Amino acid sequence: MLKIVVAVSVLVLALVWALLQVRAHGFSAREKPTGMEAFVATRLRWFASESDARSLKNPVEATPLAVAEARDHYADHCATCHGNRGDGKTQINAGLYPPAPDMRESHTQDLSDGELFYIIKNGVRFTGMPGWGGSDEDNWKLVLFIRHLPRITSKELEFMREVNHMPVEAEPGP
Ligand code: HEC
Repeated sequence: MLKIVVAVSVLVLALVWALLQVRAHGFSAREKPTGMEAFVATRLRWFASESDARSLKNPVEATPLAVAEARDHYADHCATCHGNRGDGKTQINAGLYPPAPDMRESHTQDLSDGELFYIIKNGVRFTGMPGWGGSDEDNWKLVLFIRHLPRITSKELEFMREVNHMPVEAEPGP
């Protein structure tokens, strides 16, 4: 009985908290997520991704060709939201909630190869990140490219702009 009372109280408190959040922040996707929301969303995602996926190793070797192929693929399919540099400084991302993070930073780079692969293949529920399906090989190559983002060169950025014609202004220099 006590257990039920505690469970119901926790539920009621959680609901009241959620209602207060919505009243304070509305449903707009243009705001920054609160610290608590970001925390909960990240934990939820962790539970939702298959534990087996986390330990998968990238079967594709990081050859210059594989990285270049993934670069073109990324420029075509991912840069609209994530930006050519991976910094997320794009018009679309400014209106996404939660927004895509700067993928050069630890938020992304600390994820395992398997987690990155899983996210690219399946997307992230309740966010703007679509599941891409795609061939496993292509998705693993994208993982290689995401690892490469922190070291991207201006020559590579030029190649990407040839593919997607994104404005240079959207990518302020490092
Ligand atoms: C329509 C916009 C959009 C497109 C296109 C898109 N993404 Fe995303 N992506 C997002 C958003 C939003 C998130 C943040 C999801 C979250 O909060 O967990 C995200 C998250 C990610 C993450 C996880 C980063 C992290 O640190 O949590 C990876 C990896 C990723 N995207 C890779 C890709 C790749 C590769 C492509 C192209 C094949 C792509 N995305 C295309 C919107 C997009």
